[in-house]
Amino acid sequence: MLSVVLVGLSIAVVPLEAAVAKRYANSSNAFGPLTFKADGTFQISIFEDLHFGENAWDSWGPQQDINSVKVIGKLLTAESPDLVVLNGDLITGENGYLENATHYIDQIVEPLVKRGLTWASAYGNHDHQFNLSAADILAREGFWPNSRTRRMVSGEGVGVSNYYLPVYDHKCFDEKICVPDLLLWFFDSKGGFRFQQKDAYGKQVGIPNWVDYRVAQWWHQTNAELVQWYQKRIPSLAFVHIPTYASYALQQAGVDPHTEPGINDDNPLAPQAQGWCPDGRDDGTCSYGGQDIPFMQAITATKGLMAVFSGHDHGDTWCYKWDSLLPGMTVAGNGVNLCFGQHTGYGGYGSWERGARQVLVTKEQLEACELDSWIRLESGNIVGSVSLNATYGQDRYPATNNTFTHCPTCNYTIVTPMPGTKR
Ligand SMILES: *[C@@H]1O[C@H](CO)[C@@H](O)[C@H](O)[C@H]1NC(C)=O
Ligand SMILES: *[C@@H]1O[C@H](CO)[C@@H](O)[C@H](O)[C@H]1NC(C)=O
Ligand SMILES: *[C@@H]1O[C@H](CO)[C@@H](O)[C@H](O)[C@H]1NC(C)=O
Ligand SMILES: *[C@@H]1O[C@H](CO)[C@@H](O)[C@H](O)[C@H]1NC(C)=O
Ligand SMILES: *[C@@H]1O[C@H](CO)[C@@H](O)[C@H](O)[C@H]1NC(C)=O
Ligand SMILES: *[C@@H]1O[C@H](CO)[C@@H](O)[C@H](O)[C@H]1NC(C)=O
Repeated sequence: MLSVVLVGLSIAVVPLEAAVAKRYANSSNAFGPLTFKADGTFQISIFEDLHFGENAWDSWGPQQDINSVKVIGKLLTAESPDLVVLNGDLITGENGYLENATHYIDQIVEPLVKRGLTWASAYGNHDHQFNLSAADILAREGFWPNSRTRRMVSGEGVGVSNYYLPVYDHKCFDEKICVPDLLLWFFDSKGGFRFQQKDAYGKQVGIPNWVDYRVAQWWHQTNAELVQWYQKRIPSLAFVHIPTYASYALQQAGVDPHTEPGINDDNPLAPQAQGWCPDGRDDGTCSYGGQDIPFMQAITATKGLMAVFSGHDHGDTWCYKWDSLLPGMTVAGNGVNLCFGQHTGYGGYGSWERGARQVLVTKEQLEACELDSWIRLESGNIVGSVSLNATYGQDRYPATNNTFTHCPTCNYTIVTPMPGTKR
């Protein structure tokens, strides 16, 4: 009897599977699919700008890595997330040695592996450098069964960490037959320099610092296929290291410390396509080239997208509801929240207190496309606790206390140049 049932089931499933091979979602790794907890919650900790591997040739750099491992541990002990997102600039690749630049991944993930946590990365400009390739970071992450980082878009120049992960109900045991409750989209905003390539003058070759238009197309199309397959719009979140120009336009419109609580010290912030000309030159003559427009269009076209989380600008930590056509923009916001996290690593510029943005999604809140978010600091304090709901942007919150890490050797300083390099 049982075997008859199974045979019947497999006959029913196979043709569907073949037809939608690329459409149905899959987040499985050795830890199984991503799921909500039995209590209906799913929490993400976002570690951004970890900047491991500064100045390997002196004592200051390795000390920052030790500090960063400690801060990751403290934050994880305080928060117990269901997924960790490494939101770009995991490694300061321009300080790396060709033979071991990816090895810093092992240090980064040690506190996660110890706690049995899984993670997913979106790479940043410092992860694409002459001695460090993002594809090699992906491979290094892949040595750990905990990694969920993937590459779903192939092609020259599209970047590496472009993919999505579905999150299911806690009772889901077979992804083929479960409908995701939430989708997590990850993008590679690139930037930095081409791996092991120099131009005719011996100079490193820059990589465009925006999400490629082919990736925006892939997002649009894949999301449409998923809507079609599941016959519903699935709420989603997106992660990308460099914010889009929309974040810049919102910042110039004014960040109110009570309605968009957070630090706003990097003003003006550095968005995608900064330093590039519309015609594709990056010779320092243009401030912004507009090449992130297809990605911004994809953001606003993705129904159910609740928030986009970025890093890159270490001195900005606010969330802003993008719900209008802003000056200098051709793409109008539709109410999606654009958020920064908190500088997590001891490497990288700035000494704003280290921390990590937390994102809490509950199955109940998802019905209204709402979520809660706050920043957990290394001190244990919580700042910027907000509800990203329909009235975010009008609700009043306490202003974020802008605290700094007090550590005389922690601020970013090039202590000694890398032997044999010009600075
Ligand atoms: C899900 O994806 C992983 C990694 O790409 C793969 O190994 C696994 O077979 C997939 N599972 C299903 C059910 O498609
Ligand atoms: C890259 O790695 C090589 C080999 O370790 C090293 O000699 C060089 O200084 C590194 N950095 C650059 C920018 O080439
Ligand atoms: C990489 O190699 C350099 C030079 O030998 C060394 O100083 C550094 O600690 C190494 N880094 C890692 C992560 O192994
Ligand atoms: C949004 O959340 C804030 C803070 O919890 C709350 O004061 C406000 O009433 C909420 N708005 C809606 C529409 O639920
Ligand atoms: C802000 O930080 C200062 C200095 O650490 C502290 O004295 C003050 O109580 C803090 N305020 C809040 C609201 O946390
Ligand atoms: C580190 O940065 C903070 C804030 O920018 C500044 O107040 C402090 O003086 C700096 N410390 C050192 C040792 O440079």
